Amino acid sequence: LGMFTLDPGYVNTAACRSAITYLDGEQGVLMHRGYPIEQLAEHSSYLEVCYLLLNGELPTQQEMETFKDNLNRRSLVHEHLDRFYTGYRYDAHPMSIMVGVTGALSSYYHEAMDIQDPEDRLLTAHRVIAKMPILAAHCYKYAMGHPFVHPRYELTYVENLLNMIFAVPHRPYQPSPVAIRALDQLLILHADHEQNASTSTVRLAGSAEANPFACISAGIATLWGRAHGGANEAVIHMLNEIGDPKNIDQYIAKAKDKDDPFRLMGFGHRVYKNYDPRAKIIRKACHDLLNEMDTVNQPMFETAMRLEEIALQDEYFIERKLYPNVDFYSGIILQALGIPMSMFTVLFAVGRSAGWISQWLEMMEDADFRIGRPRQLYTGSQQRDYVPIDKRG
Ligand code: CMC
Repeated sequence: LGMFTLDPGYVNTAACRSAITYLDGEQGVLMHRGYPIEQLAEHSSYLEVCYLLLNGELPTQQEMETFKDNLNRRSLVHEHLDRFYTGYRYDAHPMSIMVGVTGALSSYYHEAMDIQDPEDRLLTAHRVIAKMPILAAHCYKYAMGHPFVHPRYELTYVENLLNMIFAVPHRPYQPSPVAIRALDQLLILHADHEQNASTSTVRLAGSAEANPFACISAGIATLWGRAHGGANEAVIHMLNEIGDPKNIDQYIAKAKDKDDPFRLMGFGHRVYKNYDPRAKIIRKACHDLLNEMDTVNQPMFETAMRLEEIALQDEYFIERKLYPNVDFYSGIILQALGIPMSMFTVLFAVGRSAGWISQWLEMMEDADFRIGRPRQLYTGSQQRDYVPIDKRG
């Protein structure tokens, strides 16, 4: 019974080989296909990073044009899928809708798709990346009771995403360059992150040769958890709860109290024990955006900045290497961009879909590919005999 190694939370177990993302938690290094995240965040675009994750190389100009064109061709969702939204309660959480509608895409692409065929697999990857922003924006429109806005060919990926969220028929929407850049960078920073819980879920479901859209839906379900992608939303809930910066000390004390389940949302990370390199980049973007948008004096942003400052100096957090993570700042950026809180994790899912589907593709092409099947250390009863119900005391 004791022949397996117990590794709760998979802290020391590599579940696969992967050439996509390199992560060194001790040194605070993150690279995609060998390119440091700092360089990608500064010089690249989300779509270019999608291409890189999928294909292993940065695209040439021509390859990029073809890629954009391929995505544009896939950027329609079946009209019938729109009806799925109306089955949800008016106040349904958009992540619950995303789990449903992404899973429902499997019904449109199942019989006709052969996951053993490399061309079909790549087509599936393009469909996922092209359709996720549409499904995401529709969630918001449904919650608002506004008509769905469809993608426009002449807009970029991020412009389309913002347009599909914010445009209303009587009021043309023109996103600001600051908003476009901030969202593009945010999507880059979320595009892939090695074998995190949601990616591992996609791989495990995919290892059973499940429909890839259903696998992505499983990834979305995992991402929704507040210990994972739900943290950016939890950060804003926490900031609202703290309210005034003068209450921060009380909340820091709660976070340190082992009898209190409260944790500082947006602090700590399983693998980054030095600093989350994404947080470093996004911290700057966040500070720049707040300055540019002149929001620094709004109480919530003031509370956030004070909290960051105090926690970075507090021994409890320093000792345990609990630094603000990417979700701390992404929540604040999205709030400043006017994106409703319930959509935060949805946008994380849009960004991460590139990583999910790239990892799925890589797994399907792996010579060692086999169904994932973790084992356990059994801790239950020894063998015993069945007792009829009238004889049980
Ligand atoms: N506030 C207060 N104390 C904390 C926090 C926190 N946010 N995070 C960890 N600790 C303490 C924890 O109580 C423990 O203390 P002690 O050693 O005295 O018992 C120590 O730090 C180690 O914590 P852990 O739970 O063993 O660490 P973990 O690697 O299992 O958990 C984590 C990592 C991210 C789930 C956790 O830090 C956490 O719950 N953070 C808040 C939620 C959050 O921001 N999540 C986003 C993660 S990053 C984005 C993503 O991957 O999606």
